[in-house]
Amino acid sequence: MAKSKSLTSIFIVIILTLLFSFVTAKSHTFHRTISPLSLGLKKEKLSHLHFFFHDIVSGPEPTAVRVAQARMTNTSSSLFGLLVMTDDPLTMGPEPGSKLVGKAQGIYGSAAQKETGLLMIMNLAFTEGKYNGSTLSLLGRNAVLSKVREMPIVGGSGAFRFARGYALANTHMLDFKTGDAVVEYNVYVFHY
Ligand SMILES: *[C@@H]1O[C@H](CO)[C@@H](O)[C@H](O)[C@H]1NC(C)=O
Ligand SMILES: *[C@@H]1O[C@H](CO)[C@@H](O)[C@H](O)[C@H]1NC(C)=O
Repeated sequence: MAKSKSLTSIFIVIILTLLFSFVTAKSHTFHRTISPLSLGLKKEKLSHLHFFFHDIVSGPEPTAVRVAQARMTNTSSSLFGLLVMTDDPLTMGPEPGSKLVGKAQGIYGSAAQKETGLLMIMNLAFTEGKYNGSTLSLLGRNAVLSKVREMPIVGGSGAFRFARGYALANTHMLDFKTGDAVVEYNVYVFHY
């Protein structure tokens, strides 16, 4: 009789342990499938953004600064190994005093030895209108001496969650003396 009682209590303990682990597993779900509507995602749309990117490397208030370079960078015709960090203004028009719509915060680096080819890693951080506080992430190759350069938009935040698309960059002005440049950007993105 005593033996069957202790067997019963062992059985109850096992059942309780199983139940408990089942409950905790449920409250810590690692992944699940959800509907886009549960995140408020209704219809995907395509947006076109047009602005000018000001890369100011000279003067008392540069917006693009050298942060690192290789030993051989200065002797390389393409400045291979140079890394520049930017907080470049993005404006509606090409003039320096034109209305600010955001900043290009990121890094570009010289990644090609034989030609001019930059690696661009940029967050386009917008501050205007309904896109204020939203960002687009750009990651691509910028052959700056080509007429139009295409770079992928790999993601975004805020109004640009789930963004994907591309940017077309076209140099508007390049001052060969100072190195300052104004680049026209046309960005096409799918987002919700
Ligand atoms: C390379 O050139 C830059 C800009 O002209 C200069 O500031 C830097 O001191 C040079 N570095 C070396 C290692 O020569
Ligand atoms: C953008 O948002 C920031 C923070 O919420 C706010 O301070 C700023 O005034 C806004 N700018 C515009 C142009 O709406």
